[in-house]
Amino acid sequence: MQDIHKGFHTVDQSTDVNFLFQFLDVADATPSVRGYRQQMLNLLPVAPGQRILEVGCGIGTIAMQLAETVGDSVQVLGIDKNEVFIREAQRRASSRNLPVEFQVGDANQLDLPDASFDVARTERTLMYLENPGQALDELVRVLKPGGEIVIFEFDYDSTVIDTSDRQLKRRIVRILSDSVPSSPIGRQAKRLFKERGLEDVKVIPQLLESNFAGYKMVFGGTLDKAVERGELGADELAAWWAELEQAEQNGTFFVGLLGFVVYGRKPETVI
Ligand SMILES: C[S@@+](CC[C@H](N)C(=O)[O-])C[C@H]1O[C@@H](n2cnc3c(N)ncnc32)[C@H](O)[C@@H]1O
Repeated sequence: MQDIHKGFHTVDQSTDVNFLFQFLDVADATPSVRGYRQQMLNLLPVAPGQRILEVGCGIGTIAMQLAETVGDSVQVLGIDKNEVFIREAQRRASSRNLPVEFQVGDANQLDLPDASFDVARTERTLMYLENPGQALDELVRVLKPGGEIVIFEFDYDSTVIDTSDRQLKRRIVRILSDSVPSSPIGRQAKRLFKERGLEDVKVIPQLLESNFAGYKMVFGGTLDKAVERGELGADELAAWWAELEQAEQNGTFFVGLLGFVVYGRKPETVI
């Protein structure tokens, strides 16, 4: 099974990119992802005339939706480190005549001028960075004075799962959390925003309920790798999946992933 988390750090020759595209498409369609995206839009609606930056844009779904919302009067730029995603986003946008552009770029060092965007957004990307504060510095740098930022990030340590073996559950949550460099980013974001002088900071927690198939698709490959490394017994993992699968069949499966939508505004004047 593909280790999705690895794929979102760096796509290399061992990565099944079609699986990643499919994963992102499935995620785009889930009610919980649509729910937090609506919260992002409630906090920071798209307005005519804006220049919008989407960092870690993946296959470009949100960048295209934002471009579509206000039509020609916005300009959206999607940036992603992995060229395969940018090529796929460009392919999908090519027939749609939208005011959207996609470029390869690194969130840690944006090749963009200071104070050039009205809105900066990022979703489920800062957790893959070793130093998310550096990426936030970059997002703030490229915002115009008075520009606004909104992000969504998980906090994997806080995942809730209804299983009988609480010790095994804690170990599995820790393994999954440790598989990404900055998994506590969700809880840190308020502080990181305030440390960067952002104003009117708002934090909206979101519990994203997953179904069994989605949960296994996202985390199964990472847990297989933990078995290969000897961090988890093959029998333990088999028992874990068997219990969750049984719960699914009984209609009682429950997994909730905690995440946060966080908003802030760059001051009009720097004191
Ligand atoms: C889980 S995907 C989320 C994609 C998209 N934001 C979405 O919500 O569908 C994480 C994205 O972050 C990108 N990424 C990882 N590290 C990055 C970096 N240093 N700079 C820019 N993008 C990065 C990955 O290539 C991937 O597209």
